[in-house]
Amino acid sequence: MNKKCNSLAVIGAQWGDEGKGKVVDYLTAKSSLVARFQGGNNAGHTVVTGDNTFKMHHLPVGILYPEVLCVLGNGMVIHPSVLVKEIDELQKRGVDTSNLRISEKSHIILPFHQALDNLMEGKKGDKKIGTTGLGIGPAYADKAYRCGLRMIDFISPHRFNSWLEENLPFYNQLLNKIYNHEGFSPEEIINEYQPLAERLSPYVTDTSQLVLDNLEEEKNVLFEGSQGTLLDLDHGTYPYVTSSSTVAGAIPGGLGIGPRYIGDIMGVIKAYITRVGEGPFPTEEKGDLGDYMRQKGGEYGTTTGRPRRCGWFDGVIASYTARINSLNGWAVTKIDVLGGLENIKIATSYYLKGERVDRFPSTLEDLYSVEPTYEELPGWEEDISEIRVFDQLPQNAKNYLEALEDITGVKVSLLSVGPEREQTIVLPGASFYTF
Ligand code: IMP
Repeated sequence: MNKKCNSLAVIGAQWGDEGKGKVVDYLTAKSSLVARFQGGNNAGHTVVTGDNTFKMHHLPVGILYPEVLCVLGNGMVIHPSVLVKEIDELQKRGVDTSNLRISEKSHIILPFHQALDNLMEGKKGDKKIGTTGLGIGPAYADKAYRCGLRMIDFISPHRFNSWLEENLPFYNQLLNKIYNHEGFSPEEIINEYQPLAERLSPYVTDTSQLVLDNLEEEKNVLFEGSQGTLLDLDHGTYPYVTSSSTVAGAIPGGLGIGPRYIGDIMGVIKAYITRVGEGPFPTEEKGDLGDYMRQKGGEYGTTTGRPRRCGWFDGVIASYTARINSLNGWAVTKIDVLGGLENIKIATSYYLKGERVDRFPSTLEDLYSVEPTYEELPGWEEDISEIRVFDQLPQNAKNYLEALEDITGVKVSLLSVGPEREQTIVLPGASFYTF
């Protein structure tokens, strides 16, 4: 029998950058433990608290709350120098990071992973994925090849040394022979990485047991997804995806707990949609409207600074990602950005080869050729960023949200009307708060 558990998963339901950092930050205040289960420093969260802006890549925003345990799970890939920089930066600003725990089974990103990522992209020319260039794909590939470096081996000097002895010659040959790159010397890597291993060592533990203990004690546990469902290795717009499983189904494997410990699953969507990197984007607005969303929504990547591609809310995508993750609530972010537009469009289905479809296609060819069918709704003039109660929203904003719910069959639980923590509205009757 499945017992009720106090856990909530927060999952990106578009192409990443949905504003999960803000939503997780809001929910973290009610949690005992926050755990990431996939991805690495390709993620980027910006959290604004008063005059402070924090940008984080590996660390869950829970790190800002000393009483909340923050777990980097076994499903993650970790870039030691970036993580140590993140820790240092927080400590310099007075944040206590002793609540951090890193899985001994997480995998390590090394300099040749990053070099390979960029060289492989360069070779692909106009077929490039548009990765973040941080070595994520090669590090996950090594894990799957069964020759990756795990955290538990990284923090043991003799195991790290023998791993390098065994594996570095292969990478150097690959870099030399295929990409004409000079490669890396073992001394260079040891000198830079050994001190980083020592810095990370105190945080490394059996996080699977820790997460389980918190769940068994019925404490509030938050599972924090990174990237988005359309960047999932299986269910995203392959091959224009990241190299990890970003969906709710990846939580148990990425943390080492059983699936019966997943309680509610909240999908985060922007009131419009964005994507960074290459790949199909059916509702993309390349003209003035896209520019309007980019400027007003500040749509530039936290990790790479790249301008994000922008477009209208895509109901076909939202219905698909609701299904893949079995979502039972939406957090809709950046609805304030749509204020001031005369009309707002929502894609409700696609035309594909002259036929109407409401299923998200699986081939790139179909995804590039679909024509969205839009429902057009009247916009609102008012600035809604100061509103904190659902009833006070302009009627047209309420109608817009109702249309999202009708298309996707999932209720809106949380609404974000600006970047600050307080600019959040919990909807009446939101079913989530077992918290
Ligand atoms: P990678 O994860 O660096 O391998 O990049 C693969 C694809 O995922 C590229 O299109 C990236 O732009 C995209 N991507 C990776 N992480 C994020 C993220 O956190 N937000 C949005 N897009 C991302």
